[in-house]
Amino acid sequence: MPTTHPIGVFDSGYGGLTVLRSITKRLPQYDYIYLGDNARTPYGNRSFETVYHYTLECVQWFFSQGCPLVILACNTASAKALRTIQQKDLPRIAPDNRVLGVIRPSAEIIGNFSESGHVGILATQGTVASESYPMEIGKFFPQLHVHQEACPMWVPLIENNEHQTHGADFFVKKHIKSLMEKGEMIDTVLLACTHYPLLQEKIEEYLPVGVKLLSQGDIVADGLADYLNRHPEMESRCARNGGRRFCTTDSVQDFDNHASSFFGEPVRSEHIDLSQKFD
Ligand code: DGL
Repeated sequence: MPTTHPIGVFDSGYGGLTVLRSITKRLPQYDYIYLGDNARTPYGNRSFETVYHYTLECVQWFFSQGCPLVILACNTASAKALRTIQQKDLPRIAPDNRVLGVIRPSAEIIGNFSESGHVGILATQGTVASESYPMEIGKFFPQLHVHQEACPMWVPLIENNEHQTHGADFFVKKHIKSLMEKGEMIDTVLLACTHYPLLQEKIEEYLPVGVKLLSQGDIVADGLADYLNRHPEMESRCARNGGRRFCTTDSVQDFDNHASSFFGEPVRSEHIDLSQKFD
């Protein structure tokens, strides 16, 4: 259903649907457009310049659809593109619009869950290399020890629907072992990639008993509710017809076949073409 002034939710592929699922439960009244850049996923191993360039193109597309607010429901895009878009591009292309990420709301609360003072971050290569999590968490919990593990095979396994196979066990076990070797006192682990909730059961199987596992959907949904409360000028610009649109840069058939395992209900998507210029 086309809507005016929806909230945009973005990911490189399907992962952001795990966040949209929580957001639409928490804040069902708003209109949303989801965009998965499936044609160019995964972003996790790409350079800063490429992730920035792809993400900016998608943000400009959201603005062309009337979105006043866009959530980058992708840690890799939040780590590598968000700050430049907020500081350099927004003032030039859409000074009244806002783009938010998923790292800050997660960093703001992670320390509340840890008793040992050691937390683990499971993320893509790009998110880990950016050091965004240690930096952001340090602002809110300066005493917390942050141990990171890059899991470069996890997104490809999930995007290719291989995450429930025995092959997936190998890579889950390998990275959980490596994370726990980096910080044996870790008592809280964040799934800092929006694809990873699909591997949650396997991850729990290999984590030591008692370690808490956090995924970002509810954290980001609470953060968005709080943001809209604190920013009535933005809240009043967001349409409230309960509309949902799902868009992909790749095949709609593939998207519709895979999306429901991330979103929790069937999805009908539209193909969009990013080769047009939107600014
Ligand atoms: N869901 C993205 C994230 O949160 C996946 C990144 C990718 O495309 O590799 O980082």
